[in-house]
Amino acid sequence: MFELVADEEVRLRPLSYREVPELYRLTDLYRDHLSTWLPWVRRHTLTDTYAFVDHSIAQQRRNEGFQAGIFYRHAIVGVIGYHKIDWDNRKTSLGYWLIPTVQGRGVMSRACSAMLDYAFFHLGLNRMEIRAAKDNIRSRRVAERLGFTQEGIIRQAEWLHDRFVDHVVYGLLAREWEQRSDRRAFFA
Ligand SMILES: CC(C)(COP(=O)(O)OP(=O)(O)OC[C@H]1O[C@@H](n2cnc3c(N)ncnc32)[C@H](O)[C@@H]1OP(=O)(O)O)[C@@H](O)C(=O)NCCC(=O)NCCS
Repeated sequence: MFELVADEEVRLRPLSYREVPELYRLTDLYRDHLSTWLPWVRRHTLTDTYAFVDHSIAQQRRNEGFQAGIFYRHAIVGVIGYHKIDWDNRKTSLGYWLIPTVQGRGVMSRACSAMLDYAFFHLGLNRMEIRAAKDNIRSRRVAERLGFTQEGIIRQAEWLHDRFVDHVVYGLLAREWEQRSDRRAFFA
C-alpha cells in the first residue's frame, strides 16, 4: 500500500478496511456539518462506509484511480479521491471532504496539490476537474487557490436536500500545473 506525502503534516493513503471504523465515526460525528454540501452523508451508515472502501479497492484494482484517507499529524481527518480515470482522454476529477476542526489550515489545498502532482507527473494525466456547488465557497476557493480556471456553470446539476443547485466547473491542465507545482509531494 503506497503513501503520498504532501509535506511533514499531510499524508494520503488509499483507503483500506482498517480505516472504516474511524472514518464512519467522523462522518457520524460531523454529519450535520458535512451534509450541508454532501447530501449522501445524511443517511450514511457503517455499511455504507464499508461499501465505499470496497468500491475504492475495486477502483484501484481496475487502475481507475483511488480514494485516499487524509492523515493530518497522523490522524485521519477526511477523504480525497479521483473519480473514475478516463484513460482515453487522460483526465479525471477530484472529490474531497475534511472534518470542520481542521479546516482553515490548508490541509485540503496541500492534499489536492499532492493528488495533482501524482496525477500529472506520475500517472501522466492531462486534465483535472473540480466541480463545486455555486454557493460552496470554501470548496471553490480550494480550486481557485490551486490555479484552476473556472470553465463554466452546469445549471441545476444536483438535487441538494430540497432544491437544485448549479455546479461551477473548474479545470486544470498538466502544462498549467507544471508551471505552479513545487513538486514537493512524493510517494513511498
Ligand atoms: C471544501 C473543504 C475541504 C475546504 O476546506 P478548507 O479548510 O477551507 O480548505 P483548505 O484545507 O485548503 O484550507 C484553506 C484555508 O487555510 C488557510 N491556509 C493556511 N495554511 C495554508 C496553506 N499552507 N495552503 C493553503 N491554505 C492555507 C487558507 O488561507 C484558507 O483559509 P480561509 O479559510 O480563511 O480562506 C471543506 O470546507 C469541506 O470539507 N467542506 C464540506 C465538504 C465539501 O464541501 N466538499 C467538497 C464538495 S465539492
